[in-house]
Amino acid sequence: MIQIAILGLGTVGTGVARVVAENARQIERKLGEPLQVKSILVRHFKDGPYRQLMTDDFRRIEEDESIRVVVETIGGVDAAYEYTRRALEAGKHVVTANKQLVAERGFELLALAKKKNVSYLFEASVGGGIPILHPLTQCMAANRIDEVYGILNGTSNYILTRMVRTGAFFTDALREAQAKGYAEADPTADVEGVDAGRKICILADLAFGHQVEPERVPMEGIRKLSLRDVRIAQRAGYRIKLLGRAVRLPGGGRTAYVAPHLISEENPVASVEDVFNAVVVRGNATGEVMFYGRGAGELPTASACVADVMECLQSSARREEIGWSSETDGFEDPAELKT
Ligand code: HSE
Repeated sequence: MIQIAILGLGTVGTGVARVVAENARQIERKLGEPLQVKSILVRHFKDGPYRQLMTDDFRRIEEDESIRVVVETIGGVDAAYEYTRRALEAGKHVVTANKQLVAERGFELLALAKKKNVSYLFEASVGGGIPILHPLTQCMAANRIDEVYGILNGTSNYILTRMVRTGAFFTDALREAQAKGYAEADPTADVEGVDAGRKICILADLAFGHQVEPERVPMEGIRKLSLRDVRIAQRAGYRIKLLGRAVRLPGGGRTAYVAPHLISEENPVASVEDVFNAVVVRGNATGEVMFYGRGAGELPTASACVADVMECLQSSARREEIGWSSETDGFEDPAELKT
């Protein structure tokens, strides 16, 4: 039996517990052992199916040697950073959907994970259920990545779609997105372009191998768009889409930003609707490759988290088989990678 812990029991945390329980058979077949949620860290105890697993004391998870993977779904930086650091220090793998933490402190946490010979994985932090980080870093590893762009925020895309399709007003569409569990706890990050900005930073970090700091990335969201803007664009044969973009410049520099764009109806990105995201990666060997799927929501995001849990366990088994040690791996100080 492989034991894991979940930090937080909001939309994503609940989804992780559900996927582990509902897909138990498929997961066991792949891991060779059952996977079980042993503890869930919560701030307030509440009744429900997970009541017996709840604790409000992180030390019980940190000191429990039977817990091999911690899934951090708290969000934000402060507590999430502290618990992630302590879990890695305790030799546990950590998996997260927390794009803010990864964008701001990811390099540091990856370095710590490497030092402790464990994994820090965050596939769910970009594109919800869409596999994008593994394909970018592994399947496209033989490319020089020249550009990454796409629709990276499901809430904004949902709002824009409702405005085009039903003439819904911004605030009503936002309320619907919140009710469906797509929006952040504070939806300002969604509609101001900050959530998409964190995601483009993560994509740029991985595509270019240098840390892109979110505060240096211009971010404009959809808050200022009116129903009239959306209709004028539509009449002219365009859709307004919020895009994040990171691009390698001809002189060797790189830039990243988030802004609403006019996209011709003939472009496949224009037909990406509702909560769906699309990410286009341009490699110098592959040309453009497009990834498409549900960019937010309980089960799609949880699916990516649980797949990362399985990847941690499987890669640690592979490392043990070959006797791999971080001390022999040319470990680099992340400070040296900063631009
Ligand atoms: N609030 C985010 C979105 C959730 O709407 O895309 C997924 O990161």
